[in-house]
Amino acid sequence: VRADISANEAMKNYPAQSAERQALTQALNDVAATFPQSVPIVINGERQKSGLNSTGEQLNPSKHSQVVATYEEASDAQVDAAIKGALDAKKSWEAVPWNDKAAIFLKAADLISTKYRYTLMAATMLGQGKNTWQAEIDAAAELADFLRFGVKYVEEMYAVQPPKNAPGIWNRTEYRPLEGFVLAVSPFNFTAIGGNLPAAPALVGNTVVWKPSPMASLSNYIVYQILEEAGLPKGVIQFVPGPPAEIVGRAVNNPDFAALHFTGSTHVFKHLWKTISSNLDLYKGYPRIVGETGGKNFHLVHNSAPIKPTVVQTIRAAFEYQGQKCSACSRLYVPSSLWKNGFEKELVEQVNKITVGPVQDWEHFMGPVINKPAFDKITGYIKKAQEVGDKVIAGGSGDDSEGYYVKPTVIVTTNPKTVTMTEEIFGPVITVYVYEDADFEKTAELVDSTTTYALTGALFARDREAVIKGQALLRNSAGNFYINDKCTGAVVGQQPFGGARASGTNDKAGAPSLFSRFVSARSIKEAF
Ligand code: SER
Repeated sequence: VRADISANEAMKNYPAQSAERQALTQALNDVAATFPQSVPIVINGERQKSGLNSTGEQLNPSKHSQVVATYEEASDAQVDAAIKGALDAKKSWEAVPWNDKAAIFLKAADLISTKYRYTLMAATMLGQGKNTWQAEIDAAAELADFLRFGVKYVEEMYAVQPPKNAPGIWNRTEYRPLEGFVLAVSPFNFTAIGGNLPAAPALVGNTVVWKPSPMASLSNYIVYQILEEAGLPKGVIQFVPGPPAEIVGRAVNNPDFAALHFTGSTHVFKHLWKTISSNLDLYKGYPRIVGETGGKNFHLVHNSAPIKPTVVQTIRAAFEYQGQKCSACSRLYVPSSLWKNGFEKELVEQVNKITVGPVQDWEHFMGPVINKPAFDKITGYIKKAQEVGDKVIAGGSGDDSEGYYVKPTVIVTTNPKTVTMTEEIFGPVITVYVYEDADFEKTAELVDSTTTYALTGALFARDREAVIKGQALLRNSAGNFYINDKCTGAVVGQQPFGGARASGTNDKAGAPSLFSRFVSARSIKEAF
């Protein structure tokens, strides 16, 4: 009997005085005692120093005087060596029987859920500014889920075989890994995505050059080491930190480049796509391009929605992890009857109660934003909003003297195309547009046409007709659409995640469709 791999990792709650809280506190102290950790380049399992003789620093965003890690920066020669190593490792890796490959990733999931749970969470908290519950969702639950459900989905994909055989014929489909290597480029904001971007292609027999985000060096290196401890052979995933443009540029200009698995900004993704297009004659085949990029996600409230729960869900969607989720809500559309009759008051009161501070203090709902450029960009948008005459009704300021803290900020505008309604801010800022109750349908159309993104969105309504109309009018506005729930927090195995339009290729992390992008099927017909 196969183990049940289709259950989500059980989440822990960390109540005061609990054994879990104690264990995590211990891990936070232990991990901090090792700062600054040194994060190497790993090529064919071998730890290397920078060929450029250069290192970068990952700072604790809650306290930027503290250096979390120094990471080695890979040179062109090291990128080339990583690619060569990946191509060499592929010969033996693709021949490893499926069950033995699966065992490695399932064991890694178990190590994440048990032995390394608190260490990985501590590295995510101190390195990426997540509070306990956000780190639990990400570095423990989602990462383990990606690995376990990945095995389940690949098994299902392999089982899809031609249903017909003519007499004397044996048809079958073989799911080959891609010819060449896969480049994984991961973001700072989810340790789980850091792990999933190289792991998903590797699971189906590819070998991968992984460029982690500099701001997530430590947690991502721990993930790499967990995969290694679980038995991943040397060279299957090459861990290559360093200057992003140079590493990625070098990799996509290599003739053996076969696929890009990317999460990051729309701008960078488009740039890479163009570079890849201009290189088509260089490659053996047409590279697979899988990307999850920006968002400008919305909550549309109908006047049949209850105020209190809608406000709670909106606050969670806008301000958990400081709004630094690609899924975060940053546009809110409220009918004027609700707005005047308590919505505004409730929203402002609840936002003003939010405390912002160091993530290891336990009591704060919000921590810091990731770094100084993010702090400047976010506070810059708040200033821009004020300059164009939009009103800040909560928050509106930041303090970067010790950590990069920005208050949860609510802006109200009368211009639905104002700058904070159209551009991705990636921080704790939400802009509200109040519409006339009679204009619900017109507003749904406005929601759809305001930005080029289509990642997540939510509709709040108790009226069934409004649900049906809104759902239809917003059909193409979000790859993850929620009815009476917040637009963040997709769960692997429950809400496959991804968006279309400028938000990505919508191949859906945590879903079977993703794995089909990293294989090249061969149809075999044998006549007896
Ligand atoms: N999957 C995350 C969410 O749904 C974002 O990456 O919030």
